[in-house]
Amino acid sequence: MECRLTVSDKIYWIGVNDRETTLFENYWPLEKGVAYNSYVINDEKVAILDTVKFNKTSEYLEKIAHIIGDKPVDYLIVNHMEPDHSGSMSALLSKYPDMKIIGNKKTFPFIKGFYGIDRNFMEVDDGDTLDLGHHKLKFYLTPMVHWPETMMTFCETSGVLFSMDAFGGFGSLDGGIFDDQINYEFYEDETRRYYSNIVAKYSPMVQRTLQKLGGLPIKAIAPTHGPVWRSNPGEIVSLYDKWSRFEAEEGVVIVYGTMYGNTAKMADYIAQVISEQGIKHVKVFDASKTHVSYLLSEIWRYKSVVIGSCAYNTKVFTSVETLLSKLANSGLRERYISVFGNKSWSGGGVSGIEKFVEEVRWEKIGESIEATYSPSKAEYKALKALGKEIADRLKSEYRDK
Ligand code: FEO
Repeated sequence: MECRLTVSDKIYWIGVNDRETTLFENYWPLEKGVAYNSYVINDEKVAILDTVKFNKTSEYLEKIAHIIGDKPVDYLIVNHMEPDHSGSMSALLSKYPDMKIIGNKKTFPFIKGFYGIDRNFMEVDDGDTLDLGHHKLKFYLTPMVHWPETMMTFCETSGVLFSMDAFGGFGSLDGGIFDDQINYEFYEDETRRYYSNIVAKYSPMVQRTLQKLGGLPIKAIAPTHGPVWRSNPGEIVSLYDKWSRFEAEEGVVIVYGTMYGNTAKMADYIAQVISEQGIKHVKVFDASKTHVSYLLSEIWRYKSVVIGSCAYNTKVFTSVETLLSKLANSGLRERYISVFGNKSWSGGGVSGIEKFVEEVRWEKIGESIEATYSPSKAEYKALKALGKEIADRLKSEYRDK
C-alpha cells in the first residue's frame, strides 16, 4: 500500500497497523488497534522518519522498497527512541548499511543500549538543518515530550511537521490516514486518551514546545500514531494547548468502586441530581469495569470529578486506588473534587480518597459523605445537597461570566 501526503509529492506514509497487540506498553487497552506511523521522503537523498515496532518489520521493509526501489536509504531520522518506533532500526540498518542515523546527543545512548548499534551516528542540535535536494529539514529538540531524547523535524519545503508521539493517538488507520478521511471524533477521543496517559505528565514541557514551534508555517502534522492532521492542523495544536494547560469543559465525571452496589447507588443518585440541575455532561463509571486509561481521559476533559469508594480491608477499593495513583502521578491540576463512599465496620475508603485530595490540592466541593451499610435517608439528603453544590459551582464557572 502506498499513501502520499498531498502537501508534497515526495513524502509518503509508510506506517503499519497493529491490530494484534492487545495492550500498548503491555498496559493500555488497544480496543481499536494502533498505527505506528513512519514516513519516507524520496528526494535526491532518501530520508526515513522513525521506524515501526519489531512485530511489523517485514511489512515495513516491503513498503519502503515499493517506494524507493533500488535506491539506498541515506538517513534515518530518529525523533523518538521508544521501541514502538525504533524496533525496526536494526533491520533497516542491515538492509541499508550506509544509512546515517540522525539523532541528538540524548538519542545515541538509547540506540546503543537497546540495540547494540554503535555506528553511522550523525548528531544534530536544536535548529540544525539537513538538505535532501529539494526538501530542507530543520530539527527542533523537544526534551521530555515525553522522553529525554524526543525531537521533532520540520520540513521547511512542504510545511510538514514530523512530531513523533505528540499529537498522536490510539486507533489503527483503517483506510484513510488524513484527518479529513476518518471519523474525527473517534480519533480526537483516542488522541486525548493517548495524551492523558502517555504524555500528560510532561505537560509543562509540552507547553514549552508549543511556544517553540509557535511561529512555524505548519501545513500538516505527521505524528507517529493516529491520523495525519492536514485539514486544520491548528485545531489539534489548540487541543494540545488546552490539555497541557489543564483547561476543562463543563461536565462531571463520577467514578466509584463498589462490591455489593451501595456505593454505586450513591453515584447514580448524585448523577441524577447534577443532571436535574441542567448539567448535560455527566458520566458515571464503575472503576472495576472501565480501564483507568479511559477514566483519566474523561477526567482530563471535564472540570468536576466525584470519586466514591467502599471501604476495602481498611483502604480504598483496589480499582479506585489505581485511579488515584495514576491521577496523582499525572500532574493534573485545576479540577474540582468531591468525595463519597460507604463502609460497614472499619472505614478507610473515604478517608483514603481524602488523603489523595490533600496530595493533589484540587478544590474540594462539599463535605465528604460516607454511608454506613446502605445509604440512609439522611445520607441521600446530603448527597442531594452535594449534587446541587457541584452543579452550582460549575454553572458559576462556565455560565455566569
Ligand atoms: Fe509511541 Fe513514546 O512511543
